[in-house]
Amino acid sequence: MNVMDHPVFRRFWYPVMPLDLLREGPRGFVLLGQPLVLFIDDQGVPAALEDRCCHRTAQLSLGEVCQGRVACPYHGWQYDRSGQCVHVPQMPDRDPGPKRRVRAFHCDVRYGYAWVALEDPIFEIPAIPEAAEPDFELIQEFYEEWKVAGLRVMENELDMAHPSYVHLGTFGSPEHLVAKDAEIREFDGGFHYTGRLGVTQAHHAQQDGNERFLDCSWFAPFVCRLRIDYADGGPAHVIVNCQVPIDHGRSQVVQFCLQQDHGEGFDREALLAFDRKVTLEDKRVLESTDPDMPLDPRGEKHMESDKPGLVIRRMMDRLIADHEGVA
Ligand code: FES
Ligand code: CO
Repeated sequence: MNVMDHPVFRRFWYPVMPLDLLREGPRGFVLLGQPLVLFIDDQGVPAALEDRCCHRTAQLSLGEVCQGRVACPYHGWQYDRSGQCVHVPQMPDRDPGPKRRVRAFHCDVRYGYAWVALEDPIFEIPAIPEAAEPDFELIQEFYEEWKVAGLRVMENELDMAHPSYVHLGTFGSPEHLVAKDAEIREFDGGFHYTGRLGVTQAHHAQQDGNERFLDCSWFAPFVCRLRIDYADGGPAHVIVNCQVPIDHGRSQVVQFCLQQDHGEGFDREALLAFDRKVTLEDKRVLESTDPDMPLDPRGEKHMESDKPGLVIRRMMDRLIADHEGVA
């Protein structure tokens, strides 16, 4: 069985849809093989239902939102956020009754996204401290599908041996092959990672040979916060990379950043273009990796700098074992 087929993955929050897209009408998304329709209810809060009408199975995501309910495109049945059909236009005077309903899923809002959990979530939506700090601005970056396993991307975020190969075109330095002073502190459902990495980078007026201070957090299974401070000062840049599993070989990449007060001369377009370039450098290599990522360390070969990835594998293995037959 592929790791991603384990039902424990249904018990995490995922940032499935940008709120900006939802404001235009209902949208479909396939999460772990489950087709969903997302829409904004009459209170302005997003809701997630199965994307299949209980009348003749049409996709609700092709319909529209009427008074905070999603209306089926086929015959207009309307569903509220709990999945209950509350209106059948062809029999307006009759209560549709409790049997006319579709499944509803947990849905909440954070960081400009509608987050969904298919079953009762084990952990809260990860807290990104900088999102609550007034001198940081949240900037949406990417929302797109990659042909990659989400765990491979998480591991890559904390793999400080890849920039000097993959990111030579942006910040990677051929002289700094690994991070220094790398440390991991685990917590329930994730870990903090700190270290220093030498980079070459023109971005943010940083000089060649500069050093990045890394202060990162991984939240199981697919959220990674990467805070970068520079040795020679300047505003911090926090990248939050989330992977939303479509199925075991495809993942929706959700990336936003939190940019510390930048004052005069901040070039938002340049920042986005730089992060885009970095992301495409990763994409090229990551899409070439095997979507079957073994959690057993004997499944692949390793080196010392792979420690964060190995902790990810061990913690995921533990979570799966702890929820065997429970989810
Ligand atoms: Fe949805 Fe008929 S299929 S209302
Ligand atoms: Co990279």
